[in-house]
Amino acid sequence: MDSKHPDRIIAREASPEDELASTSIRPESLTHFVGQNEVKKQLGICIEAARQRGEALDHILLAGPPGLGKTTLAHIIAREMDVNVRTTSGPILERKADLAGLLTELQQGDVLFIDEIHRLNRVVEECLYPAMEDYFIDVLIGEGPHAKSIKLDLPRFTLVGATTRSGMLTGPLRDRFGIQCRLNFYEDDDIARILRRSAGILGIDFEEEGLIELASRSRRTPRVANRLLRRVRDYAQVRSDGVISAAVAGEALSLLEIDRLGLDQMDRRILTIITEKFGGGPVGLKTLAIALGEDEGTLEEVYEPFLIQTGLLNRTPSGRVLTPAGYAHLGLPGPSGTTLQGEFL
Ligand SMILES: Nc1ncnc2c1ncn2[C@@H]1O[C@H](COP(=O)(O)OP(=O)(O)O)[C@@H](O)[C@H]1O
Ligand SMILES: [Mg+2]
Repeated sequence: MDSKHPDRIIAREASPEDELASTSIRPESLTHFVGQNEVKKQLGICIEAARQRGEALDHILLAGPPGLGKTTLAHIIAREMDVNVRTTSGPILERKADLAGLLTELQQGDVLFIDEIHRLNRVVEECLYPAMEDYFIDVLIGEGPHAKSIKLDLPRFTLVGATTRSGMLTGPLRDRFGIQCRLNFYEDDDIARILRRSAGILGIDFEEEGLIELASRSRRTPRVANRLLRRVRDYAQVRSDGVISAAVAGEALSLLEIDRLGLDQMDRRILTIITEKFGGGPVGLKTLAIALGEDEGTLEEVYEPFLIQTGLLNRTPSGRVLTPAGYAHLGLPGPSGTTLQGEFL
């Protein structure tokens, strides 16, 4: 959980508690992976074709905001291909030898999953090019003047890369992924289906309206939905009869300061600071991050995508700007003195 905002519920990294609990609710096949139909269709065809030919799957890039199912999909891909998966992440792979160690342990068809692949350093990234394209790496044996570079052949493997910032990937790396999938925010219906499934697995009692209420306030993100489900279950158990009804969900979410659109305190702070300190914008990312006391990357990867998706914030060449809907959501008149009625209030 976020150390600066201890009460905050966000789709950042999975906490250990999350991991433990989600071993049962994490879908293990494409059939159980809810929504993202285009991505599932595309992957399903590639997987079936590769299986029929008895070949390794092409390299796959999964891009999209945190909590939408990239890690889950990487494991599903390996399972559907009936191969092993090795997991690592961009910042962990510091040296070429770290990568070489992983690559040389792979067997034919195995999946190497690199999370946060946009954070690979240059040296490691360049070592990945020939590995992806021609299935070999050069390793240095010995030291100093006697060091010798030798070429090691690798089995045909599948690299699955995940990134929250596809824009930060270099062209050469991106081009080496034969299959590129972009995960989008989920429809409320799909979030409701995920919640129904999770509630079933965890043995949580709910009324349909309660689930729908929860789904509509989950940032259209499965990780957030599953986390809120557990918090609302706690509330239902302690303050009510254990059943998640619409009223119970509503009360629990207000207690957590999650509003009608699913925004939490931090989201609202971002919108408020843009109006109060920067006249509604445009304000540069760096300046905004400093004013909020938040890390630039976190602001851009974790908070902004949803605020932009809901139409409250705009990213323009000159900076971030609050939209009329953003003003309306804060209950403020717009910059020209206009007020918006309806949906966003
Ligand atoms: N399409 C989906 N259907 C069901 N559950 C999902 C789906 N996508 C994600 N989840 C759930 O949300 C959680 C977060 O997904 P994860 O794959 O860790 O996201 P990411 O790697 O993109 O941050 C997982 O524990 C999983 O249970
Ligand atoms: Mg992940």
